[in-house]
Amino acid sequence: MFAKRKAYPIMADPSPAPADDDFTAPFSATVLPISRDRRLPCTMSTDMARDRIISAQARPEEELESNSATTLRPRVIGEYVGQSDLIEKLTIALQAVKQRQEPMEHVLLHGPPGLGKTTLAHVIAEEMGTRAYVTSGPALTKGGDLVGTLTKMQPHDILFIDEIHRLPAAVEEYIYPAMEDFKIDFTLDSGMHAKVITYNLKPFTLIGATTRAGLLTGALRSRFGITHHLQYYDETELLAILRRAASMLGIGEIGHDALRLIALRSRGTPRVTLRLLRRVRDFAQVRAGGRIDQAVIADALGLEKIDELGLDELDRSYMRTIGKVYEGGPVGLEAIAATLGEDAGTLEDVVEPYLLQIGFLARTRQGRRLTPAGAAHVGARSGSATDGSLFYDR
Ligand SMILES: Nc1ncnc2c1ncn2[C@@H]1O[C@H](COP(=O)(O)OP(=O)(O)OP(=O)(O)O)[C@@H](O)[C@H]1O
Ligand SMILES: [Mg+2]
Repeated sequence: MFAKRKAYPIMADPSPAPADDDFTAPFSATVLPISRDRRLPCTMSTDMARDRIISAQARPEEELESNSATTLRPRVIGEYVGQSDLIEKLTIALQAVKQRQEPMEHVLLHGPPGLGKTTLAHVIAEEMGTRAYVTSGPALTKGGDLVGTLTKMQPHDILFIDEIHRLPAAVEEYIYPAMEDFKIDFTLDSGMHAKVITYNLKPFTLIGATTRAGLLTGALRSRFGITHHLQYYDETELLAILRRAASMLGIGEIGHDALRLIALRSRGTPRVTLRLLRRVRDFAQVRAGGRIDQAVIADALGLEKIDELGLDELDRSYMRTIGKVYEGGPVGLEAIAATLGEDAGTLEDVVEPYLLQIGFLARTRQGRRLTPAGAAHVGARSGSATDGSLFYDR
Protein backbone atom coordinates (compact mmCIF):
# COMPACT_ATOMS: atom_id res chain seq x y z
CA MET A 1 0.00 0.00 0.00
CA PHE A 2 1.26 3.48 -0.84
CA ALA A 3 1.30 6.20 1.72
CA LYS A 4 -1.16 8.99 0.96
CA ARG A 5 1.60 11.58 0.51
CA LYS A 6 3.14 9.59 -2.31
CA ALA A 7 -0.17 9.43 -4.03
CA TYR A 8 -0.38 13.13 -4.82
CA PRO A 9 2.22 13.34 -7.61
CA ILE A 10 0.54 10.39 -9.26
CA MET A 11 -2.85 12.03 -9.06
CA ALA A 12 -1.59 15.30 -10.41
CA ASP A 13 -0.35 13.63 -13.55
CA PRO A 14 -3.17 11.65 -15.15
CA SER A 15 -4.71 12.88 -18.30
CA PRO A 16 -6.41 16.13 -17.49
CA ALA A 17 -9.93 16.82 -18.68
CA PRO A 18 -10.28 19.06 -21.74
CA ALA A 19 -9.32 22.67 -21.10
CA ASP A 20 -12.77 24.07 -21.80
CA ASP A 21 -14.25 21.75 -19.26
CA ASP A 22 -15.47 23.49 -16.13
CA PHE A 23 -14.80 20.25 -14.32
CA THR A 24 -11.07 20.20 -15.11
CA ALA A 25 -10.61 20.08 -11.38
CA PRO A 26 -13.89 18.36 -10.67
CA PHE A 27 -13.80 18.90 -6.97
CA SER A 28 -13.37 21.56 -4.42
CA ALA A 29 -13.75 21.55 -0.72
CA THR A 30 -16.97 23.48 -1.16
CA VAL A 31 -19.84 23.36 -3.57
CA LEU A 32 -19.02 23.59 -7.23
CA PRO A 33 -21.64 25.19 -9.40
CA ILE A 34 -22.85 22.37 -11.61
CA SER A 35 -23.09 23.39 -15.22
CA ARG A 36 -26.68 23.15 -16.40
CA ASP A 37 -25.42 22.03 -19.79
CA ARG A 38 -24.23 18.88 -18.14
CA ARG A 39 -27.60 18.05 -16.72
CA LEU A 40 -29.74 17.86 -19.81
CA PRO A 41 -28.87 18.03 -23.44
CA CYS A 42 -30.23 21.52 -24.12
CA THR A 43 -32.73 21.98 -26.86
CA MET A 44 -34.60 25.18 -27.31
CA SER A 45 -37.72 23.65 -25.86
CA THR A 46 -35.97 22.32 -22.76
CA ASP A 47 -34.70 25.84 -22.14
CA MET A 48 -38.18 27.22 -22.53
CA ALA A 49 -39.59 24.62 -20.20
CA ARG A 50 -36.89 25.26 -17.65
CA ASP A 51 -37.39 29.01 -17.75
CA ARG A 52 -40.87 28.56 -16.38
CA ILE A 53 -41.21 30.26 -13.03
CA ILE A 54 -42.82 27.14 -11.59
CA SER A 55 -40.11 24.83 -12.95
CA ALA A 56 -38.63 22.78 -10.13
CA GLN A 57 -35.23 22.74 -11.89
CA ALA A 58 -32.64 25.11 -10.47
CA ARG A 59 -31.67 28.10 -12.57
CA PRO A 60 -28.01 29.06 -12.89
CA GLU A 61 -28.53 32.20 -10.79
CA GLU A 62 -30.17 30.12 -8.08
CA GLU A 63 -27.21 27.77 -8.01
CA LEU A 64 -24.94 30.75 -7.65
CA GLU A 65 -27.12 32.07 -4.90
CA SER A 66 -27.01 28.77 -3.12
CA ASN A 67 -23.24 29.17 -2.99
CA SER A 68 -23.36 32.64 -1.58
CA ALA A 69 -23.49 33.72 2.01
CA THR A 70 -27.10 34.78 1.60
CA THR A 71 -28.26 31.25 1.00
CA LEU A 72 -31.67 30.30 2.27
CA ARG A 73 -30.68 26.67 2.53
CA PRO A 74 -31.26 25.16 5.95
CA ARG A 75 -27.86 24.45 7.48
CA VAL A 76 -28.66 22.10 10.32
CA ILE A 77 -31.20 19.34 10.65
CA GLY A 78 -33.40 21.39 12.97
CA GLU A 79 -33.91 24.00 10.24
CA TYR A 80 -34.90 21.43 7.64
CA VAL A 81 -38.66 21.50 7.20
CA GLY A 82 -40.76 18.43 6.31
CA GLN A 83 -39.68 14.94 5.13
CA SER A 84 -40.30 13.84 8.70
CA ASP A 85 -39.75 10.10 8.11
CA LEU A 86 -36.40 10.70 6.50
CA ILE A 87 -35.36 13.28 9.08
CA GLU A 88 -36.16 10.85 11.88
CA LYS A 89 -34.14 8.07 10.23
CA LEU A 90 -31.21 10.43 9.67
CA THR A 91 -31.32 11.89 13.16
CA ILE A 92 -31.07 8.42 14.68
CA ALA A 93 -28.32 7.34 12.29
CA LEU A 94 -26.34 10.54 12.86
CA GLN A 95 -26.53 10.26 16.62
CA ALA A 96 -25.57 6.58 16.54
CA VAL A 97 -22.54 6.99 14.28
CA LYS A 98 -21.32 10.04 16.16
CA GLN A 99 -21.45 8.06 19.41
CA ARG A 100 -19.51 5.22 17.79
CA GLN A 101 -17.19 7.68 16.01
CA GLU A 102 -17.92 6.05 12.70
CA PRO A 103 -18.72 7.64 9.35
CA MET A 104 -22.36 8.13 8.42
CA GLU A 105 -23.82 5.37 6.27
CA HIS A 106 -23.96 5.93 2.52
CA VAL A 107 -27.24 7.67 1.68
CA LEU A 108 -29.22 7.62 -1.56
CA LEU A 109 -31.82 10.36 -1.96
CA HIS A 110 -34.25 10.24 -4.84
CA GLY A 111 -37.22 12.28 -5.86
CA PRO A 112 -38.32 15.16 -8.09
CA PRO A 113 -36.11 18.24 -8.46
CA GLY A 114 -36.16 21.06 -5.93
CA LEU A 115 -37.25 19.02 -2.91
CA GLY A 116 -34.04 19.40 -0.92
CA LYS A 117 -31.64 16.57 -1.83
CA THR A 118 -28.56 18.76 -2.20
CA THR A 119 -29.60 20.73 0.87
CA LEU A 120 -29.77 17.54 2.89
CA ALA A 121 -26.29 16.46 1.84
CA HIS A 122 -24.90 19.72 3.22
CA VAL A 123 -27.00 19.38 6.36
CA ILE A 124 -25.52 15.91 6.97
CA ALA A 125 -21.98 17.26 6.51
CA GLU A 126 -22.73 20.10 8.92
CA GLU A 127 -24.15 17.69 11.51
CA MET A 128 -21.12 15.42 11.16
CA GLY A 129 -18.82 18.43 11.47
CA THR A 130 -17.14 17.48 8.20
CA ARG A 131 -16.79 18.84 4.67
CA ALA A 132 -18.93 18.06 1.65
CA TYR A 133 -17.21 17.53 -1.68
CA VAL A 134 -19.71 18.05 -4.45
CA THR A 135 -19.73 16.67 -7.96
CA SER A 136 -22.21 15.16 -10.38
CA GLY A 137 -22.51 11.94 -12.39
CA PRO A 138 -21.93 13.43 -15.84
CA ALA A 139 -18.87 15.37 -14.63
CA LEU A 140 -17.05 12.12 -13.91
CA THR A 141 -15.97 10.39 -17.06
CA LYS A 142 -13.42 7.88 -15.79
CA GLY A 143 -12.54 6.25 -12.51
CA GLY A 144 -9.36 8.33 -12.24
CA ASP A 145 -11.46 11.50 -11.92
CA LEU A 146 -12.31 10.47 -8.39
CA VAL A 147 -8.83 9.59 -7.16
CA GLY A 148 -7.81 13.13 -6.28
CA THR A 149 -10.83 13.78 -4.14
CA LEU A 150 -11.15 10.38 -2.53
CA THR A 151 -7.55 10.40 -1.37
CA LYS A 152 -7.82 13.98 -0.13
CA MET A 153 -10.91 13.37 1.95
CA GLN A 154 -10.58 13.33 5.72
CA PRO A 155 -12.33 10.79 7.96
CA HIS A 156 -16.14 11.09 7.85
CA ASP A 157 -16.12 13.67 5.02
CA ILE A 158 -19.03 13.59 2.59
CA LEU A 159 -18.77 12.94 -1.14
CA PHE A 160 -21.98 14.18 -2.75
CA ILE A 161 -22.68 12.90 -6.26
CA ASP A 162 -25.66 14.62 -7.86
CA GLU A 163 -27.42 12.94 -10.78
CA ILE A 164 -25.80 9.71 -9.77
CA HIS A 165 -27.86 7.84 -12.37
CA ARG A 166 -25.66 9.46 -15.02
CA LEU A 167 -22.46 8.00 -13.63
CA PRO A 168 -20.56 6.11 -16.38
CA ALA A 169 -20.27 2.36 -15.77
CA ALA A 170 -16.46 2.59 -15.44
CA VAL A 171 -16.73 5.13 -12.62
CA GLU A 172 -19.49 3.18 -10.95
CA GLU A 173 -17.35 0.05 -10.77
CA TYR A 174 -14.51 2.12 -9.40
CA ILE A 175 -16.73 3.33 -6.60
CA TYR A 176 -17.86 -0.09 -5.38
CA PRO A 177 -14.69 -0.98 -3.43
CA ALA A 178 -14.44 2.62 -2.22
CA MET A 179 -17.94 2.39 -0.74
CA GLU A 180 -17.56 -1.07 0.69
CA ASP A 181 -13.97 -1.32 1.87
CA PHE A 182 -12.72 2.28 1.59
CA LYS A 183 -10.21 1.17 -1.01
CA ILE A 184 -9.57 2.09 -4.61
CA ASP A 185 -7.44 0.50 -7.25
CA PHE A 186 -5.44 2.81 -9.44
CA THR A 187 -3.75 1.61 -12.63
CA LEU A 188 -0.35 3.07 -13.45
CA ASP A 189 0.89 2.97 -17.05
CA SER A 190 -0.71 0.70 -19.58
CA GLY A 191 0.02 -2.45 -21.53
CA MET A 192 2.75 -4.73 -20.23
CA HIS A 193 4.00 -2.09 -17.73
CA ALA A 194 0.60 -1.62 -16.20
CA LYS A 195 0.62 -1.82 -12.42
CA VAL A 196 -2.37 -1.75 -10.14
CA ILE A 197 -1.92 0.12 -6.89
CA THR A 198 -4.43 -0.10 -4.09
CA TYR A 199 -5.01 2.95 -1.92
CA ASN A 200 -6.61 2.82 1.45
CA LEU A 201 -9.05 5.68 1.90
CA LYS A 202 -10.22 7.38 5.05
CA PRO A 203 -13.72 6.21 5.94
CA PHE A 204 -16.11 8.57 4.14
CA THR A 205 -19.79 8.81 3.31
CA LEU A 206 -21.17 8.83 -0.20
CA ILE A 207 -24.44 10.68 -0.65
CA GLY A 208 -26.05 10.12 -4.02
CA ALA A 209 -28.95 12.13 -5.37
CA THR A 210 -31.09 11.34 -8.36
CA THR A 211 -34.38 12.30 -9.94
CA ARG A 212 -34.41 8.95 -11.79
CA ALA A 213 -33.87 6.19 -9.26
CA GLY A 214 -35.13 3.64 -11.79
CA LEU A 215 -32.02 4.15 -13.91
CA LEU A 216 -29.65 3.12 -11.11
CA THR A 217 -28.12 -0.34 -11.33
CA GLY A 218 -29.14 -2.78 -8.61
CA ALA A 219 -25.48 -3.18 -7.67
CA LEU A 220 -25.03 0.51 -6.90
CA ARG A 221 -28.36 0.89 -5.18
CA SER A 222 -27.68 -2.04 -2.86
CA ARG A 223 -24.50 -0.41 -1.57
CA PHE A 224 -26.38 2.43 0.13
CA GLY A 225 -27.28 1.91 3.78
CA ILE A 226 -30.12 4.45 3.73
CA THR A 227 -32.30 4.95 0.67
CA HIS A 228 -35.16 7.38 0.69
CA HIS A 229 -37.66 8.88 -1.72
CA LEU A 230 -38.35 12.55 -0.99
CA GLN A 231 -42.01 13.54 -0.99
CA TYR A 232 -43.68 16.71 -2.19
CA TYR A 233 -44.26 19.19 0.67
CA ASP A 234 -47.72 19.91 2.03
CA GLU A 235 -49.20 23.35 2.58
CA THR A 236 -48.16 23.63 6.24
CA GLU A 237 -44.55 22.72 5.42
CA LEU A 238 -44.39 25.20 2.55
CA LEU A 239 -45.81 27.89 4.81
CA ALA A 240 -43.05 27.20 7.34
CA ILE A 241 -40.42 27.46 4.58
CA LEU A 242 -41.98 30.71 3.35
CA ARG A 243 -42.05 32.26 6.83
CA ARG A 244 -38.42 31.41 7.45
CA ALA A 245 -37.36 32.74 4.04
CA ALA A 246 -39.44 35.91 4.39
CA SER A 247 -37.78 36.74 7.66
CA MET A 248 -34.28 35.94 6.30
CA LEU A 249 -34.93 38.13 3.25
CA GLY A 250 -36.05 40.95 5.51
CA ILE A 251 -39.57 40.97 4.11
CA GLY A 252 -42.00 42.40 6.65
CA GLU A 253 -44.89 40.49 8.15
CA ILE A 254 -47.05 38.76 5.52
CA GLY A 255 -50.52 37.59 6.53
CA HIS A 256 -51.31 33.88 6.71
CA ASP A 257 -53.88 34.01 3.89
CA ALA A 258 -51.50 35.90 1.66
CA LEU A 259 -48.66 33.42 2.25
CA ARG A 260 -51.09 30.59 1.57
CA LEU A 261 -51.66 31.97 -1.92
CA ILE A 262 -47.98 31.41 -2.63
CA ALA A 263 -47.82 28.00 -0.91
CA LEU A 264 -50.78 26.65 -2.88
CA ARG A 265 -49.17 27.63 -6.17
CA SER A 266 -45.80 26.07 -5.33
CA ARG A 267 -46.41 22.54 -6.62
CA GLY A 268 -45.28 21.08 -3.32
CA THR A 269 -41.71 22.19 -4.06
CA PRO A 270 -39.51 24.42 -1.85
CA ARG A 271 -37.48 25.69 -4.81
CA VAL A 272 -40.69 26.90 -6.50
CA THR A 273 -42.07 28.45 -3.34
CA LEU A 274 -38.87 30.43 -2.75
CA ARG A 275 -38.80 31.58 -6.36
CA LEU A 276 -42.42 32.76 -6.20
CA LEU A 277 -41.68 34.61 -2.97
CA ARG A 278 -38.80 36.48 -4.62
CA ARG A 279 -41.00 37.35 -7.59
CA VAL A 280 -43.70 38.65 -5.27
CA ARG A 281 -41.13 40.68 -3.35
CA ASP A 282 -39.92 42.34 -6.58
CA PHE A 283 -43.47 43.06 -7.70
CA ALA A 284 -44.45 44.49 -4.32
CA GLN A 285 -41.38 46.71 -4.21
CA VAL A 286 -41.87 48.14 -7.69
CA ARG A 287 -45.65 48.26 -7.97
CA ALA A 288 -47.05 48.30 -4.43
CA GLY A 289 -44.66 50.33 -2.31
CA GLY A 290 -43.40 47.17 -0.62
CA ARG A 291 -46.83 46.11 0.65
CA ILE A 292 -47.44 42.35 0.31
CA ASP A 293 -51.05 41.28 0.71
CA GLN A 294 -53.41 38.90 -1.05
CA ALA A 295 -54.20 41.35 -3.86
CA VAL A 296 -50.53 42.09 -4.56
CA ILE A 297 -49.65 38.38 -4.58
CA ALA A 298 -52.56 37.56 -6.88
CA ASP A 299 -51.46 40.33 -9.27
CA ALA A 300 -47.81 39.29 -9.17
CA LEU A 301 -48.57 35.64 -9.87
CA GLY A 302 -51.31 36.52 -12.37
CA LEU A 303 -48.62 38.26 -14.39
CA GLU A 304 -46.83 34.91 -14.64
CA LYS A 305 -50.08 33.20 -15.71
CA ILE A 306 -49.91 30.74 -12.86
CA ASP A 307 -53.31 29.44 -11.86
CA GLU A 308 -54.55 28.61 -8.39
CA LEU A 309 -53.06 25.11 -8.57
CA GLY A 310 -49.63 26.34 -9.61
CA LEU A 311 -50.06 25.23 -13.21
CA ASP A 312 -48.69 27.43 -15.95
CA GLU A 313 -49.34 27.74 -19.66
CA LEU A 314 -47.12 24.75 -20.55
CA ASP A 315 -49.00 22.46 -18.15
CA ARG A 316 -52.32 23.64 -19.48
CA SER A 317 -51.38 23.31 -23.14
CA TYR A 318 -50.03 19.81 -22.40
CA MET A 319 -53.40 18.86 -20.90
CA ARG A 320 -55.37 20.63 -23.64
CA THR A 321 -53.41 18.68 -26.25
CA ILE A 322 -54.40 15.36 -24.70
CA GLY A 323 -57.96 16.54 -23.98
CA LYS A 324 -58.74 18.16 -27.27
CA VAL A 325 -56.39 16.82 -29.94
CA TYR A 326 -56.26 13.25 -28.63
CA GLU A 327 -59.74 13.12 -27.10
CA GLY A 328 -58.47 12.59 -23.58
CA GLY A 329 -56.06 9.80 -24.48
CA PRO A 330 -54.60 7.31 -24.08
CA VAL A 331 -51.89 8.77 -26.25
CA GLY A 332 -48.14 8.21 -26.45
CA LEU A 333 -45.77 10.79 -25.01
CA GLU A 334 -43.98 11.21 -28.35
CA ALA A 335 -47.22 12.16 -30.07
CA ILE A 336 -48.00 14.80 -27.44
CA ALA A 337 -44.45 16.15 -27.66
CA ALA A 338 -44.66 16.36 -31.45
CA THR A 339 -47.96 18.25 -31.31
CA LEU A 340 -46.61 20.69 -28.72
CA GLY A 341 -43.22 21.07 -30.39
CA GLU A 342 -41.58 20.16 -27.07
CA ASP A 343 -38.97 17.59 -26.17
CA ALA A 344 -40.51 14.35 -24.85
CA GLY A 345 -37.91 13.96 -22.09
CA THR A 346 -38.59 17.50 -20.90
CA LEU A 347 -42.31 16.88 -20.70
CA GLU A 348 -41.64 13.69 -18.78
CA ASP A 349 -39.27 15.42 -16.34
CA VAL A 350 -40.82 18.83 -15.80
CA VAL A 351 -44.51 18.65 -16.66
CA GLU A 352 -45.80 15.18 -15.95
CA PRO A 353 -44.63 14.47 -12.37
CA TYR A 354 -46.78 17.16 -10.81
CA LEU A 355 -49.83 16.42 -12.98
CA LEU A 356 -49.55 12.77 -11.96
CA GLN A 357 -49.17 13.80 -8.34
CA ILE A 358 -52.35 15.90 -8.29
CA GLY A 359 -54.32 13.26 -10.15
CA PHE A 360 -54.82 15.18 -13.42
CA LEU A 361 -52.95 12.64 -15.50
CA ALA A 362 -52.81 8.86 -15.60
CA ARG A 363 -50.01 6.87 -17.18
CA THR A 364 -51.32 3.62 -18.57
CA ARG A 365 -49.73 0.95 -20.69
CA GLN A 366 -51.56 2.41 -23.69
CA GLY A 367 -50.22 5.91 -23.03
CA ARG A 368 -51.09 9.13 -21.20
CA ARG A 369 -54.71 9.77 -20.28
CA LEU A 370 -56.38 12.79 -18.71
CA THR A 371 -58.40 12.04 -15.60
CA PRO A 372 -61.85 13.65 -15.24
CA ALA A 373 -60.36 16.24 -12.84
CA GLY A 374 -57.61 17.10 -15.33
CA ALA A 375 -60.08 17.29 -18.20
CA ALA A 376 -62.36 19.60 -16.20
CA HIS A 377 -59.45 21.90 -15.38
CA VAL A 378 -58.79 22.69 -19.04
CA GLY A 379 -62.40 22.61 -20.15
CA ALA A 380 -62.39 19.22 -21.83
CA ARG A 381 -65.37 17.11 -20.87
CA SER A 382 -64.95 13.54 -19.71
CA GLY A 383 -66.98 10.88 -21.42
CA SER A 384 -68.55 7.96 -19.66
CA ALA A 385 -65.95 5.74 -18.08
CA THR A 386 -67.53 2.68 -19.62
CA ASP A 387 -68.25 3.73 -23.18
CA GLY A 388 -64.59 3.83 -24.08
CA SER A 389 -64.80 7.37 -25.47
CA LEU A 390 -63.01 8.74 -22.38
CA PHE A 391 -62.95 12.50 -22.97
CA TYR A 392 -63.92 14.70 -25.81
CA ASP A 393 -63.98 18.39 -26.54
CA ARG A 394 -66.95 20.55 -25.69
N1 LIG B 1 -36.75 21.04 3.77
C1 LIG B 1 -36.45 22.27 3.37
N2 LIG B 1 -36.62 23.31 4.19
C2 LIG B 1 -36.34 24.57 3.76
N3 LIG B 1 -35.87 24.87 2.53
C3 LIG B 1 -35.67 23.88 1.69
C4 LIG B 1 -35.94 22.52 2.06
N4 LIG B 1 -35.64 21.72 1.03
C5 LIG B 1 -35.22 22.52 0.05
N5 LIG B 1 -35.23 23.82 0.44
C6 LIG B 1 -34.87 24.95 -0.41
O1 LIG B 1 -35.23 24.62 -1.74
C7 LIG B 1 -34.16 24.87 -2.64
C8 LIG B 1 -33.94 23.64 -3.50
O2 LIG B 1 -33.39 22.60 -2.73
P1 LIG B 1 -32.24 21.64 -3.29
O3 LIG B 1 -31.31 22.38 -4.18
O4 LIG B 1 -31.65 20.95 -2.12
O5 LIG B 1 -33.11 20.64 -4.14
P2 LIG B 1 -32.66 19.32 -4.91
O6 LIG B 1 -33.58 18.25 -4.48
O7 LIG B 1 -31.20 19.09 -4.73
O8 LIG B 1 -32.97 19.68 -6.42
P3 LIG B 1 -32.26 19.08 -7.77
O9 LIG B 1 -32.86 17.73 -7.99
O10 LIG B 1 -32.70 20.07 -8.83
O11 LIG B 1 -30.80 19.08 -7.55
C9 LIG B 1 -32.95 25.25 -1.81
O12 LIG B 1 -32.58 26.56 -2.15
C10 LIG B 1 -33.38 25.21 -0.36
O13 LIG B 1 -33.17 26.49 0.22
MG1 LIG C 1 -29.64 19.26 -6.12
